[in-house]
Amino acid sequence: MEVTGIIEKIEKQQTASKEELAFLLENISDTELEVLRKKAQQTAIKAFGKSIYIRGLIELSSYCKNDCYYCGIRRSNKNAVRYRLSEEQILDCCKTGYALGFRTFVLQGGEDPYYTDERMCKIVREIKKNYPDCAVTLSLGERGKESFKKLFEAGADRYLLRHETANPEHYKKLHPPEMSYENRIKSLYELKKIGFQTGAGFMVGSPFQTYEDLANDLLFIGELKPQMCGIGPFVPHHDTQFADKPQGSLRLTLTLLSLIRLMNPKILLPATTALGTIAGGGRELGILHGANVVMPNLSPSEHRADYSLYDNKICTGDEAAECIRCLSRRMKSIGYNIVTDRGDYK
Ligand code: 5AD
Ligand code: FES
Repeated sequence: MEVTGIIEKIEKQQTASKEELAFLLENISDTELEVLRKKAQQTAIKAFGKSIYIRGLIELSSYCKNDCYYCGIRRSNKNAVRYRLSEEQILDCCKTGYALGFRTFVLQGGEDPYYTDERMCKIVREIKKNYPDCAVTLSLGERGKESFKKLFEAGADRYLLRHETANPEHYKKLHPPEMSYENRIKSLYELKKIGFQTGAGFMVGSPFQTYEDLANDLLFIGELKPQMCGIGPFVPHHDTQFADKPQGSLRLTLTLLSLIRLMNPKILLPATTALGTIAGGGRELGILHGANVVMPNLSPSEHRADYSLYDNKICTGDEAAECIRCLSRRMKSIGYNIVTDRGDYK
């Protein structure tokens, strides 16, 4: 096997075998990565030009009933500071965001039972009523098919639920026994079937992950065909059992971004905050490797530090307006422009 041949195959067929993908991930040289990067960037430019879609991220709750081993807001972390936003606070974030040019609001939170279907549907309806030209994305975990349906009927357009890993054995090493790989995957298929533009995704360099696992993740994306895919490096959180595990590498994350772009030319692919956290200019590099979305934080500044999934998260001290100015400048510096657009999947 040789890496160049595999890259050409992916370019032609949008896929490769598990063995080929794992081999590429393990062996790609800097020169070959530059070839892959250019192809991925050209693919993104063909689909989106030099426009970057923005999503206003509203972190509505740091309460979570789950206990994922990697996450700083897991329920057993007694040191986590818990908060939840009221409907009024959420609508305030949207108001600020709309004025700044956001046309997508992402409501993300831990799995917090306080946000019942009734409360959540009301929030979604209010946002859609006030901002009919905006998309609402939810990222609220595994709520079950009936809940997903109600939220869709209330007007939510998109749903993000990272699959985290497409290997059930690996999934078990990252999650407590009461969490189920099967339910996670089933949820993703349900979301798609209901009509959501659906996002899957995974962490790069999560503990116990192998190149073969990552190859599986790429093939899973090819199978599910989600409209969005969120990936970022694993970053340890000091209050978790993975505190001493190494963080995911920048180079491997960038390689995966390029592969995802080449295998899924039209997918909405964010350069994530975690990527910006592990390296200065990380999100810019993400864009240059084929990403086309950034998700600035719109959460109220006083709560930002408390939505702490991993250590050293960037943007926790900034106002929404500062974040968007900063990102706008960063995107311009590499020849791209942030656009005021819902940025739907085409
Ligand atoms: N490092 C990187 N990403 C993390 N996430 C949770 N904890 C961490 C961590 N320690 C990601 C998960 C989750 C998303 C909301 O954040 O992939 O789906
Ligand atoms: Fe938040 Fe730069 S994007 S401060």
